[in-house]
Amino acid sequence: MDRRVSKISTLSSGSGSARTLDRLKRIATPPARHQGIFQRDLPSNGAGVNYVRHHQWKLDDIGKSWDVVEKSIRKLPFYRSREARFYRHYPMLRSCRKIFYPSLLGIVETPFTSHIYSQYIEGSKPVRAKMVNVAAAGIAELEAVSSRYIEHASATSALDFWIMDFFRWPYMRHTRMNYQCFLGNLDRLPLPSEQVRHYRQRLGKFKSWLKTRAAEARNSVRCICHLDYAAKNMLMAKNGLYLIDWSEVKIGRIGFDGGDYLSKLFIHTDLESFHALRKLFEQEYALAVDDDDLLPIAHRNRQYLFAILALWRCLQRQVIDVFIDKEQSSTLLDKLDYLLAEPEREWRADRDSQAEASHFVAGNVVTSGA
Ligand SMILES: Nc1ncnc2c1ncn2[C@@H]1O[C@H](COP(=O)(O)OP(=O)(O)OP(=O)(O)O)[C@@H](O)[C@H]1O
Ligand SMILES: [Mg+2]
Repeated sequence: MDRRVSKISTLSSGSGSARTLDRLKRIATPPARHQGIFQRDLPSNGAGVNYVRHHQWKLDDIGKSWDVVEKSIRKLPFYRSREARFYRHYPMLRSCRKIFYPSLLGIVETPFTSHIYSQYIEGSKPVRAKMVNVAAAGIAELEAVSSRYIEHASATSALDFWIMDFFRWPYMRHTRMNYQCFLGNLDRLPLPSEQVRHYRQRLGKFKSWLKTRAAEARNSVRCICHLDYAAKNMLMAKNGLYLIDWSEVKIGRIGFDGGDYLSKLFIHTDLESFHALRKLFEQEYALAVDDDDLLPIAHRNRQYLFAILALWRCLQRQVIDVFIDKEQSSTLLDKLDYLLAEPEREWRADRDSQAEASHFVAGNVVTSGA
């Protein structure tokens, strides 16, 4: 352990560390013979998170220890944070084998804080592009396990699921679901204003496509979605990949986690490699899904969330500035073209079929009138 590690077992009662110790004793009985409990803060940045801490009971036997991670989350009095609420249903993940989830050791609720204790995983941050197949299989498994759980859950869980529902207005109002707010950032690009206006107009038209897709997704199969497949939220351990940090968890819809995973990959990968990785993801996902009837809707939901999140990322001021600094403004436009290609294709197809239908109706009117 390094210099930021402190020993807490000998601190006086009433101090913050003594309270920590009390809470730890509530979730587990410390090993009888140990050399003390040590703690260190883990890197954490989440909104509403007080700290994430690694507690370690050093055992007398050389090199052995008992390790626990504590995540302390701020909350309103008498109200659970979404993450703590989700952990009530966490045992559903016990059967998962494609991606692992650290065991939950306990939750201690105080009026203003939820303390979540889980198993410490010794592992390193993976390279997202190298584990596309594991992620695809793990996402398919999480969707299958959690959709069955939701379908058969008790009536008392209904409130939790409603509060966590992806389509509730507080979540839908988040900027990440509203890329349109950031269209003005395109003006930062050192390009002719005509060209920038052209992209702003195309992106504006995209709104109705998203609305249709959102309505369709809303009525599809519900499942638990992690929605934050950032490399820092995964740990590659000896026995496989672990997923942590459920601060963005929602009752989403099948396909959404794939959309989140791909949108994070999209921004950091060149288009050609991305296209190949996306194909690989889709193949592996299709292999892992048991019910083939779900594939088309999972595919459409994935496209929907991928498009909306990838656009939001591309239009962030910091992201645009990085492209400008690297003199790669046209690369950013290529990415936008890629994201717009599908909705534009669908929009044209819809317009053509409407035109065909009205032509047919008009034809009938003329014929019957003749
Ligand atoms: N069970 C665990 N085992 C090992 N390390 C962990 C565990 N849980 C969390 N960590 C470490 O602590 C860090 C922060 O945890 P977590 O992601 O849950 O907090 P956060 O504040 O929501 O983080 P951020 O918003 O920065 O992603 C992780 O990136 C990881 O390095
Ligand atoms: Mg995290």
